[in-house]
This record gives sequence, structure tokens and C-alpha cells, in this order.
Amino acid sequence: MSSKHRLRVAVTRALPEPVLELVAERHDMWLNPDDRTLSADELQRVAAAADVLLVTAFDRLDAAAIARLPEAVRIIATYSVGLEHIDLQAARARGISVLYTPDVLSDSVAEMAILLMLGAARRAHEGAAMLYGGHWKGWSPTQLVGREVSGSRMGIVGMGRIGRAIARRARGFDMAVHYHNRGELPAELAGGATFHATLAGLLAVSDVLVLAAPSSGTTRGLIDETALAALPHGAVVVNIARGDLIDDDALIAALRSGQVGSAGLDVFRGEPQLDHRYLHLPNVFLQPHQGSSTLEARLRMGQILLDGIEALVAGRNPVNRIA
Ligand code: DGY
Repeated sequence: MSSKHRLRVAVTRALPEPVLELVAERHDMWLNPDDRTLSADELQRVAAAADVLLVTAFDRLDAAAIARLPEAVRIIATYSVGLEHIDLQAARARGISVLYTPDVLSDSVAEMAILLMLGAARRAHEGAAMLYGGHWKGWSPTQLVGREVSGSRMGIVGMGRIGRAIARRARGFDMAVHYHNRGELPAELAGGATFHATLAGLLAVSDVLVLAAPSSGTTRGLIDETALAALPHGAVVVNIARGDLIDDDALIAALRSGQVGSAGLDVFRGEPQLDHRYLHLPNVFLQPHQGSSTLEARLRMGQILLDGIEALVAGRNPVNRIA
């Protein structure tokens, strides 16, 4: 990119070094010196000297924040596939382009879903605690007996790119894949998975329930007491989407009663806070929002945003433009 196309890019969190190098090579970069989420006012101050805001899913750009952005900000590039933190309509109304990171992290997030499923079903947290706590007395026929997922049924809520990447891996475990989605997918995308027009229909056949839908008005609180009661007894619940899809009181009650056998959770309502009752339940396997946290995915996330910026500057419409 020629120097006349160098933009002032404000990066709100430390990104992997090679990504920062790429940004700095192509643009005039401002990097948040403290690796923490900026307050709303701090974000506005940073925006005052930027053409592009390179943000994360934890920087809130609601309608009010977008209305306050200076004229010079023409692009918001979010280092996430999730978009619930940005008011896209408000961005469109102001003529601000929004770029995000679809596709490039699907495999990594799908791998995390499988880790959570296996970690929950095979009681990985209890096993690790036994070893690290020095309580292991040696092999026993009754030690931490878990559940085999092979050959069972996986129900996926949200059959977008990530849901489909999970489905492909589930087939490697000979699992029958079912899904609930806004609409039925064409056969070439469904890959043999069975569509359920209703959530209730999906839940009834989900030995392993995987949440892979974005947080939205229709999905927030979706997995409540009624939904959990509709699962087969002892089902495994996996969440790699957003914490607010789940009603924590309901899931904790179901984990205590055994209606849900175990849960694998990577995301939580109100992160980095989480409902501390999860920490005292033996049948949960927790990760701290790590779904896309592989070097491969994180590099691709940076690359797709930079390519998107370059395309916008050249007057082209990038594949990862959502507004
Ligand atoms: C995403 O890409 O949305 C991840 O959850 C990180 O925010």
C-alpha cells in the first residue's frame, strides 16, 4: 500500500506480535499501551486521532458510541467473529464500514468445542484435579467413569460456519448430527445433518448439545429451565458461543440434579466475571474464552482485517465487510 494510503489505525488491545507488525508495516499504528479494555470515554479519545478502529468484542460500539465518533473514523475492524458489541445499523447510518473475521477461526473454535465435549464427558477436570492435588491412588475400575460420545447424537444450535465445522468433526466420532437454525441448509452445506425447525425438536435428540449461535435478541437466555428439561437425561451441554445464551441458574440446577450430566463452557455471561458456582461443580469443564486462541487463527484474523482495509481503500467490497 502506498504511503498516501497509510491510515491511522488505533488498536485497542495487544494483538499477536506478527499481526501488530503487519499493521505497523502498512499503516500508522496507535497501540493501547495497557493491555486492557478501554472505557467508553477512552475509546472516544483514541478515536479522535484515528481513521480505523481495530477493536475486540469487548469494546462496546453501541449507537451512542458510534454517534460520538469523529468524522475521520471510516472503518471499524473488529478482531472477532462476534458482532454483538457493534450497532451495525448505526454504523451504516454514519457510513462507517465494519469488518470482522468470519471463517478464519471456525476450525480453531470447532476444535475447542470438541475439547469441551470430551473434557465434560470424560471428566477431565476431575481427573486433572485428582492428579494435581496428589490424590490419585492408581487405576481402578470405578475411577471417574465418564460417558462415551461415539455413536451418540449431537444437536447443534446455530449451523453457521462454526456449527458446520463442529459437525464435520462430530462425524469423525460417528455421531449423528442434528441442528436447529433460522432456516434449513442446502444439502451440500448440511452434510447429512438433520434439520429441526424448532428448538424443542432438537433438544429431544441431543445427547450432546452444542451452542454455536451468535448472541442476539432471539438467542439470549435460550437455554433455560424448560430447554434443559427437554434434553435426554444426563446430556452434555457445550457452549462456545456467548455466555448469555444460557440461563446460569437453570444450568447449575440441572448439573446438580443430573438432568445435565456435564457441561463444557468456554464463554460466560458478564466476562471476565462468571457465576462462581460453576467453580464448585465437579461435572463442568471450563475454559477462559479460548475458542479462537490458536496462533493460526489469530494470525488469519489479523490478515483478513488488513486485507479488508486494503480492499476498502481501493474501492473494493471485501468478503468480511458486514456494514
Ligand atoms: C469472537 O471472535 O467473537 C471471539 O469470541 C472473541 O471475541
